[in-house]
Amino acid sequence: MVCRLVAVSAWGALAAQALVAGPWSDRNLPALERAIRLVQNMSLAEKISTLHGPATGPTGGCKSSPDCAYVGNVKGIERLDTPPLTLNDGPQGFRTPSGEGTSTSFPSGLTIAASFDVEAAREWGSSMGKEFYDKGSNIQLGPGLCLARVPLNGRNFEYLAGEDPYLGSAIAKAAVEGIQSQKVVANAKHWVLNSQETARGSVSEDADERTRYELYYPPFEGAVAGGVGSAMCSYNKINGVFSCENKETLRDLKEGLGFTGFVMSDWGATHSPSLAQGLDMEMPAAAWMNEEMLKPALDAGVVTEEKLDEAVVRIFRPLFEVGVMDEPTSTWDWKKINKNVTTAASIASARKLSALSTVLLKNERGVLPLPRGKSLALLGFAGGYPVTHGGGSGAVTPSHVTWPLQGIERAAGDTASVHFDDGTNLTSAAALAASADYAVVFVGTTSHEAQDRVSLSLDDGCDDCRGNKHQQNKLVEVVAQANRNCIVVASVPGHVLMPWSEDVPAILVNFMPGQEVGSAIADVLFGDVNPTARLPLTFPRRVEDTELSPAQYPGLPDPRHPDYNYYTEKLLVGYRLYDAHRLQPLFPFGHGLSYTSFAYSDLAVRGTTVSFSVENSGKVAGAEVAQLYLGFPESAGEPPLQLKAFRKTQVLKPGEREAVEIQLSLRDLSVWCSKKHSWTVAQGTFKVMIGASSRDLRLHGELNPTMEQVYL
Ligand code: GLC
Repeated sequence: MVCRLVAVSAWGALAAQALVAGPWSDRNLPALERAIRLVQNMSLAEKISTLHGPATGPTGGCKSSPDCAYVGNVKGIERLDTPPLTLNDGPQGFRTPSGEGTSTSFPSGLTIAASFDVEAAREWGSSMGKEFYDKGSNIQLGPGLCLARVPLNGRNFEYLAGEDPYLGSAIAKAAVEGIQSQKVVANAKHWVLNSQETARGSVSEDADERTRYELYYPPFEGAVAGGVGSAMCSYNKINGVFSCENKETLRDLKEGLGFTGFVMSDWGATHSPSLAQGLDMEMPAAAWMNEEMLKPALDAGVVTEEKLDEAVVRIFRPLFEVGVMDEPTSTWDWKKINKNVTTAASIASARKLSALSTVLLKNERGVLPLPRGKSLALLGFAGGYPVTHGGGSGAVTPSHVTWPLQGIERAAGDTASVHFDDGTNLTSAAALAASADYAVVFVGTTSHEAQDRVSLSLDDGCDDCRGNKHQQNKLVEVVAQANRNCIVVASVPGHVLMPWSEDVPAILVNFMPGQEVGSAIADVLFGDVNPTARLPLTFPRRVEDTELSPAQYPGLPDPRHPDYNYYTEKLLVGYRLYDAHRLQPLFPFGHGLSYTSFAYSDLAVRGTTVSFSVENSGKVAGAEVAQLYLGFPESAGEPPLQLKAFRKTQVLKPGEREAVEIQLSLRDLSVWCSKKHSWTVAQGTFKVMIGASSRDLRLHGELNPTMEQVYL
């Protein structure tokens, strides 16, 4: 050990700015090799120093920066001049821990899922990642990947899976690639089954292995496929064992999913020095994964030094992979946290991404797009304090907010007249609506980390949305009565009830749209952007259709302080439940209209290759999101249908068509076999369904994987 240390110090003189030069410096070496060589040259104390935050973490009163300038901080190793690890929230942009400098409030994870557009997800990742880099942060604590099992979950807005594992995996892969293209390590969170906020720190989420692998793991698999460098184990227990010391589920992540990065705990979610179980880093402080705790475990052989080395290698491998280790150490200067990093480019990106994630649910009589030069009444959240983001650790203070009133005034045309009323006085709101050619009602609610929503009503959850007097549903009713051209724009954190949906001709949903909500919604309302987004969740017609038993949510024995809940619904979440129980949703998963229309034809299934055509059969240019659903053979015990692919076409002119070809994998045809702990191709005939949503299936075919294909 001594000779190696001497050898390294001889190299030390060569390096001024970056990591001390050594056997790990060759950039042509694979990142894993570089990490192994670096760790081989660390002392025991140096290795352990990388496994935790400052002893008195930010929540423990740590005052001095740079030791705790960010949400999570790991000191660099001075002798080797390794960079400090500067971890920061969150999944939808850089959250300034105490208000320093600007950053951009981007659309939320669920909102990006609604784009059904992997290129949009990649841009979302790279736009955020650039701001993290500019702020001196080298680990972004996002994307959030939990499936929306519980409609009332307070953090559904943050998670980019919606209710479908395939959608989550496709969007996650691209988002991670985008973030990590900016020399910032992404973080797949929260591993795993963090499906509710009620009693999140103690509740045990109890689900069987097949349910975990088929529904809850795939979004994380997508992140792994995108090369994600870190993951965050969650507060909850799984089947009675805390996630951050749960050997089974941490092994599922590292061995089952092939994750090669490192696992950090959620903040305060470490309950023991759990190296042996698979935890690699404690955040934010150092209560457990520190020298005095680990040395006895090492001496007693409970933890081996190679297990310790493996954890440290897992930490440095992604740091080499994305380029953190080859940046001058000054890049990660904590004083950058005070920089204003919002740029014209990030504002343009936030605007574009919000428009690409705005779902057109209804458009009767072609009310939309709005003609320019008309008189417009804007009601509700159109003015000050529009709903832009959800609350908690993922909340990003917008560098500024473009209100819908501002965006629409700019876009409405010179001869237009635009008037606003915040809707707190229903009589004046109705009078204004009656006086205009068109009335656009902006409704919204939001939700928050650490608490679940009290209901799916628009009239709950927006207590801190100034100007909201909890009468949004009434506001829509009176405006719809006052003006037949009533358009509703809803900014919501997930599922929502729309009791007035039959009474209005047009409805748009932009979820948690971020700070450029005003410009983006104007782009869609006036047709500068032809909407392409789709629902990543089923919107219920009746609240009873979403209800879970107390044993399922929030759990038992006392639903107010549950100790455990059971995933007895197994695979029947979201549209899978609606289809299996033949329930009628208000708006189905995958639904979203365009200002044009599309025709599907020429379905052909050859082996596992599915091809078809999509034609723009309408009058204006637009892009379609064609979806492929599979119905498994009866014997497989799967839900009636499940999304296995989607393709967003190019923008097609009227009459133009695009040929689509999808190559299904054997994994797409497989179910998880808990006995063998592996995937097995289902035997028999599959139904192939192509369409514009899970309930708008236009083409039907069959697929029979031949034996040689199965045993390729
Ligand atoms: C929180 C969240 C996690 C966040 C972390 C740091 O409790 O669960 O998503 O990244 O703490 O703020």
